Amino acid sequence: MAKSADIYYKVDPWRVVETGFDKEYAVVSESIFSLGNEYMGTRGSFDEGYSGDGLIGNYFNGIYEGADLEKSGYKGIISRTEFIVNSADWLYTRIEADGECADLNTSTFEDFERVLDLKTGILTRSYTWILKSGKKVRLEFERFLSMKEAEIAVQKIKITPLNFSGEVILYSGIDFTQIHHMTGRSMWNVADTTFEEDGITMLGNTVSTDQSLFVSCRFQCDYEEKSDIREDKKLVRRFLLRAEEGKTLSFTKLIRNISRKGTTSQEKDAFQGKCAENSKILAALSYEELKEDTLKWWEDTWNDSDIAIEGDELNQQGIRFCIFQMHQTYHGADKGTIIGAKGLTGEAYSGNTFWDTEAYCLPFYIFNNTEAAKHLLEFRYLTLPEAMERAKALDCKGAFYPIATITGRECCSLWQHASLQLQASTAVAYGYWHYENITGDEEFIFEKGLPILIELSRMLATRGDWSADKTRYGFYGVMGPDEFQMMVNNNCYTNYMGKKTLEYTLDVLARCGAKAAEIYQEIIKDRGLTTEEIEYFRNIAEHMYIPYEKETGIFEQHEGYFNLPHIDIDKIPIEEFPLYHHWTYDRIYRNDMLKQPDVLMLMLMYNRDFTDAQLKSNYEYYEPRCIHESSLSPSVHSILASQLKKEEEAYKFFGFATRMDLDNYNRNTGEGLHTTSIAAAWMNIVYGFGGMRSDGKELTFAPALPKEWKSYSFKIHFGGDVLFVSVDKDNMKISTKKGSGIQVLIYEKPYTLGQEELVVPIAR
Ligand code: BGC
Repeated sequence: MAKSADIYYKVDPWRVVETGFDKEYAVVSESIFSLGNEYMGTRGSFDEGYSGDGLIGNYFNGIYEGADLEKSGYKGIISRTEFIVNSADWLYTRIEADGECADLNTSTFEDFERVLDLKTGILTRSYTWILKSGKKVRLEFERFLSMKEAEIAVQKIKITPLNFSGEVILYSGIDFTQIHHMTGRSMWNVADTTFEEDGITMLGNTVSTDQSLFVSCRFQCDYEEKSDIREDKKLVRRFLLRAEEGKTLSFTKLIRNISRKGTTSQEKDAFQGKCAENSKILAALSYEELKEDTLKWWEDTWNDSDIAIEGDELNQQGIRFCIFQMHQTYHGADKGTIIGAKGLTGEAYSGNTFWDTEAYCLPFYIFNNTEAAKHLLEFRYLTLPEAMERAKALDCKGAFYPIATITGRECCSLWQHASLQLQASTAVAYGYWHYENITGDEEFIFEKGLPILIELSRMLATRGDWSADKTRYGFYGVMGPDEFQMMVNNNCYTNYMGKKTLEYTLDVLARCGAKAAEIYQEIIKDRGLTTEEIEYFRNIAEHMYIPYEKETGIFEQHEGYFNLPHIDIDKIPIEEFPLYHHWTYDRIYRNDMLKQPDVLMLMLMYNRDFTDAQLKSNYEYYEPRCIHESSLSPSVHSILASQLKKEEEAYKFFGFATRMDLDNYNRNTGEGLHTTSIAAAWMNIVYGFGGMRSDGKELTFAPALPKEWKSYSFKIHFGGDVLFVSVDKDNMKISTKKGSGIQVLIYEKPYTLGQEELVVPIAR
């Protein structure tokens, strides 16, 4: 793997610490120190402004804009795309003394430290600012997003003159002029702006999508004089502070951001209502209470989802950073909210959600916050109509889920991906199946899953075709998860996932018919599903072609793959990575190199369908061909390497996944965090070293301890209880919070779990 770690932050088990500020890392640090609470996200930009390179980014889940693309004469190619928009900078601050402005790009400073406390979600920063006159001012900043009241954010600034008494001027406001960096334009029309006695309110509307954002703040500080500055799309209050040597002045800004994504009159009325009562709500907020609630939220969250590693501080920090990001990005507070590939930490990937959600993120939520997993799945139910529209555009029946989306509509302008990749659709079926397999929530599957499954099966029945001799069904002209093979026939992953989707549809239809006749009749009627169609689903599932070479046990990635020219990927010079920047687009398609796992992905998702011998042959064949250009790739390899007892390989891939952003492995963390691969890092410990599998009838474990570690422990929410698992070199210990008698298999042997610790020796 042509990747190398760039260790910049101090290693600490519970904190990310930057000691001394290096401008080279300014943009990367903005991503690393991002805060989020599912509803909104803010990059770790400096409150007081910064004239060097940076991306002040504030994003709201579901607030998006669109852009028209050049119209294509070809059917099925999208002509409009959508992206999450950068919005108002509600942390806007400037600090002035002796006519100088604090700016870490140009000012002299010492003792800089920035700390993201993963245990509490509080971001702090401090430094001593040295003015040209030799005067020194200690500046301390604190911010957090409320985890209880999603619309609320808090900023606190402390100013201490160290060697003088005199005036300090603090400007604080709301800045709607921020451009969306990807388009270079502001996406907001500001409709209303007001200076109030102790705060500011601003209302912005997106330029074309009819959405709104009402930003308001209340200031708390002792000042000598105040005045107001009104600029286009920006309101700022100027405070003249009288500072005394050695005495700390404290400034607090309580912020409330009300976003409106829906455009119905009901949603507009609800938004108006919230804005109308805003001053009352803001006035009642207390910094202490908000902080206490947020600390409590994180304490409860960590109590039930921490992973502890003994003997490896680097990866301990890495995995806690990953878990922290997962909870920040999404915790199921709102049904139908999405997880963008970069979460709410940047503009790359346009804030769009991909198949990553069901294939990589969902397992984290299924086992950490089951309700959140269900809410995440709701998004696909809510956007079934858009997926049906998309199917029509692609000359199919049923539903074709977009490869990248915010609203349910396809946003990917690369037709090779948008038209040829079926994996977003099959991942939806996989997600519903996985959720049901673990929770047994049949009611949800009957009501929300079944309509989707029927429409997905219809798509599969019309997108695929029969071989010339009519004996085999398969998909022609597709691209699998490995995006380095375009327009291939019978991609093994696509065919296998198609077969699984059809089989699951038939299974749910049968169970729903038997157990919930009324719901069944209603859905069948609504969807106009006929017995002939059901029989056809069965027929194509039974005849689905899975390319497989019996003698070697290797699944062929697609028909003809084995005959492609071979490339020794270790001979590609490191400067040529990432390849998509250095090789012509078509060149990457002309050999057997893989961007990311394809057959191996399948072998992880439906692990129990394959023998260890099959896994070994396929791993050993495909792994040396994979360049891991997708950050989703290493974890999958690590998990499977663990299963194959290739310990060193498993550990090597694991380190990469867990510290991908902290160490900027892909050199693009500045664009935003790799949120969905962060989810895979969690899987890496639980599925990899813990050997957990959740695709069978029972939850199974086959733990091992990496030789670099003394022990590790993790927690799993399952069956209404929480499992506490710890592994050291001799034993696996497992108990449950409530002792509800959960059955699991450990190294294939059945056990019933209670509150008392069960000790199982580690298999050698
Ligand atoms: C990967 C896709 C993934 C997308 C978003 C791409 O680089 O190839 O599999 O869905 O990134 O994470």
